[in-house]
Amino acid sequence: MLVLGIESSCDETGLALVEDGRLKDAVLASQADIHALFGGVVPELASREHLRFMGPLFDILMERQNLKPADLDAIAVARGPGLLGCLLVGTAFAKGLCLGTRARLIGVNHLMAHLLACGLENELAFPAIGLLVSGGHSNIYIFRSPVEAEQLGRTLDDAAGEAFDKCGKLLGLAYPGGKLLDALARRGRADRHLFPRPYLDNDNLDFSFSGLKTAVALHVDRELAKASWPRPLTDVSEAPQELCDCCASFNLAVVDTLQAKVERALVRYPQVKTLLLAGGVAANSLLRERMTAFMAKRGGRAIMPGRALCTDNAAMIAYAGWCALKEGYASDLALEAVPRGRSIPQDWVRA
Ligand code: KG4
Ligand code: ZN
Repeated sequence: MLVLGIESSCDETGLALVEDGRLKDAVLASQADIHALFGGVVPELASREHLRFMGPLFDILMERQNLKPADLDAIAVARGPGLLGCLLVGTAFAKGLCLGTRARLIGVNHLMAHLLACGLENELAFPAIGLLVSGGHSNIYIFRSPVEAEQLGRTLDDAAGEAFDKCGKLLGLAYPGGKLLDALARRGRADRHLFPRPYLDNDNLDFSFSGLKTAVALHVDRELAKASWPRPLTDVSEAPQELCDCCASFNLAVVDTLQAKVERALVRYPQVKTLLLAGGVAANSLLRERMTAFMAKRGGRAIMPGRALCTDNAAMIAYAGWCALKEGYASDLALEAVPRGRSIPQDWVRA
């Protein structure tokens, strides 16, 4: 079964082909440079860019694989959560393709797709705990199968990636700061007492990262005022040691906090041996090392996509669509895009 995946929920326009559960080819156009000028994603600009790139990217992919639209068995599309105008570009394109060919349509939850992307390069095993840490979300799930997940926890304020990006901004790093902060942290010495491990004094699986940002702001004012570096910083070699040390301490505080809540989820579900780790922050070096070692020590396994498949991409959409189609589900052409903040309806139909 050949599935085309379409991703346009935020600032990456992506199309990918998954054949029988394996990635065949993918194209991606990032708008990060445009939005960096504004310090964050501008929704109207983002949807216009998706519209500009969608058709040409589709042609490139088809030509490169020597395929015709009629060769596609199904079209999987990210239907939410995301920016509504952006999602509409993807869903309208997907529906048009389905109308013009005999392909089936499958609407995919972008968040589930991030976690299922673990299956693109590894064998998935269930039940599994899913930790999704991206720019917009920090959620914990229990997965009973690829198509049955229940949310156990979420962030009450900033998502983990947002915490990285806001901390990066305070430290004068180029936007989005997560990747650079990770690189700087690797050059620094972490002080485990410098920043708090927020929101652990409870028995739930929710997160709250906004206090950590305040702690970093105070540290910057008090301790880093005399140090200087080019702003926005783009090159790690220009960072002073104090900055690298601060990044290492912040990175450690976030990773410790994420690990504490995953441990708590595993106490609730002791039979679980698999952790699915995904989302942009799953590209973080320390988080990957920690989760791998921690799950191995428990006799289990942490599965995570390769770094390129942690951030938004269409391969994960195609793969998640393939998983649902394999279970006998599809969407009809009335499929609606669902913006952030609204729950995604369970409106798959039996194919
Ligand atoms: O999943 P994603 O591409 O977008 C959303 O759907 O939100 O995640 C982007 C987020 C950004 O906040 C970015 O700073 C963060 O992932 N990120 C990282 C790293 N690479 C990307 N955070 C920490 N360490 C990294 N290596
Ligand atoms: Zn995402």
